[in-house]
Amino acid sequence: MLFEKEIATVGYLSRSVTEGIDLKEAILKMKKEKNALILAHYYVSEDIQSIADFVGDSLALAQASKKAASDIIVFCGVHFMAETAKILNPQAKVLLPDLNAGCSLADSAPEAEFLAFKNQYPDAVVVSYINCSSEIKALSDYICTSSNAVEVVNAIAKDKRIIFAPDKNLGLYVQKVTGRDLILWEGACIVHVNISMDKLDLLIDTHPDAQVIAHPECMPAILDKASFIGSTKALLEFVQSSSSNKFIVATEAGILYQMKQKVPHKTIIPAPALESNSCACAECPYMKMNTLEKLYNTLYYEVPEILVNEKTQKGALKALNNMLSI
Ligand code: 13P
Ligand code: SF4
Repeated sequence: MLFEKEIATVGYLSRSVTEGIDLKEAILKMKKEKNALILAHYYVSEDIQSIADFVGDSLALAQASKKAASDIIVFCGVHFMAETAKILNPQAKVLLPDLNAGCSLADSAPEAEFLAFKNQYPDAVVVSYINCSSEIKALSDYICTSSNAVEVVNAIAKDKRIIFAPDKNLGLYVQKVTGRDLILWEGACIVHVNISMDKLDLLIDTHPDAQVIAHPECMPAILDKASFIGSTKALLEFVQSSSSNKFIVATEAGILYQMKQKVPHKTIIPAPALESNSCACAECPYMKMNTLEKLYNTLYYEVPEILVNEKTQKGALKALNNMLSI
């Protein structure tokens, strides 16, 4: 689905770059000329991660967007991440290499349905996972990421009811850790729920010396197998600090690139997906829409630009700042 707010700016998509150019070199040169900053999530392809100015998890990328002093931010990630960058840094021109790069969690919470849900619990505090649209952020009191969801929920007065949206699995995990009774929205990440329990069990049998580590967007049964649960950044830090030498990693496989850079002497095995694909691991089809060629085109034509209307921007910024101040 193309995002309507920016659809007028995608005319470049039918054009292709000059054949035979070194894309990485050309992107780095153009980035300097245009005073642009390339931000990338750990789940995008290795070639993009290798030339990005900053690679991080959702929280670190939001923080980097906020403090960016560049004229342009090219966000190699998905739409809600680029929108978040625009909300936090409205002066910058924010570009997303492919407007089709959505997210099943953000798609699970359309504004009208979410408003009706919220209205059923008028006294509840709304905590929304950053994986949602700017409109849902504007309807929320707090935003959280997988790095700080527990802290955000713990910061809310004990007598308050809390709506947690849109990721039910993250909500169940936060509920378990905090002991709070959360009102959960029924959203899920198609990538993390696609990790196969049966295949994971077989892998654990084959590698009894490996530690299973998992992202909290996974199903509870997968999390029960994990000795460590955390955001992509926390998982990356864990493989560096742990004394173990072998890990089975239950999250999107893009993070393996960083893990292999940081701990080349350790064995990192991606958790297997239910459906076979090229890597037999969990891959986000939206993150993988970012390619070097699209990144080049985006920088060259400066489209598609991510736009957020003023009223939504203000409401969403308030909820984001409530998170950043915790
Ligand atoms: P984090 O970057 O917070 O680990 O979230 C992972 C994810 O699924 C992003 O879409
Ligand atoms: Fe959304 Fe899941 Fe892809 Fe992250 S990995 S962008 S949560 S679909």
